[in-house]
Amino acid sequence: MLGEGHHPPVFSLSYSPFGAFQYCYVAATEILQSHIKGNKVLIVTNDRIAPMYLEKYANLLKAGDKLSVETLVVPDGEEHKNMEIMQTILDKCLETSLDRKATLVALGGGVIGDMVGFAAAIYQRGVNFVQVPTTVMAMVDSSVGGKTGVNHPGGKNMIGAFHQPQCVFVDTETLSTLPDRELQSGISEIVKYGLIRDKEFFEWQEDHMEQMMARDPEALRFAITRSCQNKAAVVKADEKEAGLRATLNLGHTFGHAIENHSGYGTWLHGEAVAIGTAMAATMSARMGWIEPQLVQRIYKLLERAKLPVELPPDSPMDRDSFLKLMSVDKKVENGNLRLILLKGALGNCVFTGDFDEQALLDTIDEFVAECSGVKK
Ligand code: NAD
Ligand code: GLY
Repeated sequence: MLGEGHHPPVFSLSYSPFGAFQYCYVAATEILQSHIKGNKVLIVTNDRIAPMYLEKYANLLKAGDKLSVETLVVPDGEEHKNMEIMQTILDKCLETSLDRKATLVALGGGVIGDMVGFAAAIYQRGVNFVQVPTTVMAMVDSSVGGKTGVNHPGGKNMIGAFHQPQCVFVDTETLSTLPDRELQSGISEIVKYGLIRDKEFFEWQEDHMEQMMARDPEALRFAITRSCQNKAAVVKADEKEAGLRATLNLGHTFGHAIENHSGYGTWLHGEAVAIGTAMAATMSARMGWIEPQLVQRIYKLLERAKLPVELPPDSPMDRDSFLKLMSVDKKVENGNLRLILLKGALGNCVFTGDFDEQALLDTIDEFVAECSGVKK
């Protein structure tokens, strides 16, 4: 387990959805190479991360001359999480004659991780891959659990596959270069784990939010580890999202509507999720499923993470367009919207299509009115 004291910043989450996490503090080369199958590696990263970390990881993998290491740098940004860049990755796999034993290494945030994971899922019907997440968002959520994919003009993450990484390799030192806004975006997913299943973790966050925001290494390592443990437990129970795994999407259906409305790149994923979480909590309280005091605690925690809890005034939406965007969601079944809502004491939630529709409409109206400057 993560201990106290002076550990080096690198730790590995050797991850299997069907096994346990292992936490260890050993040399990065040793851990990384031990998870590489075959003798060919392609590291894929983007043009923002490459100048900071590509050489370091290429050298770690090349050490000892056991592996032949190729690299590919793609453009940075959610707007490039698409089939065109996927094609570029697949072209590189073929150009460099990667065989079925080869390993793709995703070095970057969730955008790189999702795309490279998808390339690994479909190249030669599936090759190995390793996640080296460099954002909080990717460390606590996207790198764990095997959801991979790209966006489609008609909807976010609409094209993809489940494909588990051999290893998730977290180097918290990379967080030193992460912009504040990206740090905050990742914290919104950390808040999520407390709300959906881990009361103690939520309370720990209430006591440690300022330490996380100040990038205190021990606080971040604890939060990342605890988040991964929560996520792994859910994925282990329901890898292909028959039900329980959907609870990891608290706030996401509202959030995806916000992201899709503004266009990729305007809102960070975690920011949209924070507003979505505020909406889900508000709706839950409106139905009497949670106490109003819990809604206040949620707002307070998100605000301490400098996350938005209201729609922005410069991006007005109306109820119908919001609802239409919410319906482009993978959780819609037979045309029915299903939501993750909070119910009962802190740490409990439900994934359900059985909710008071008027409470949903009233919640959307409340948030839409706020962003139009009309306070209800
Ligand atoms: P991102 O990958 O776009 O990274 C955010 C920005 O930070 C980018 O500009 C990136 O280049 C830069 N960056 C990354 N690491 C850096 C570092 N160490 N120092 C400086 N800059 C750095 O965004 P994200 O928030 O990591 O991920 C969001 C994506 O993840 C979305 O596409 C979302 O759909 C996806 N996601 C997937 C899952 C899943 O389960 N697969 C879960 C959550 C989110
Ligand atoms: N991020 C949601 C999931 O992995 O299921």
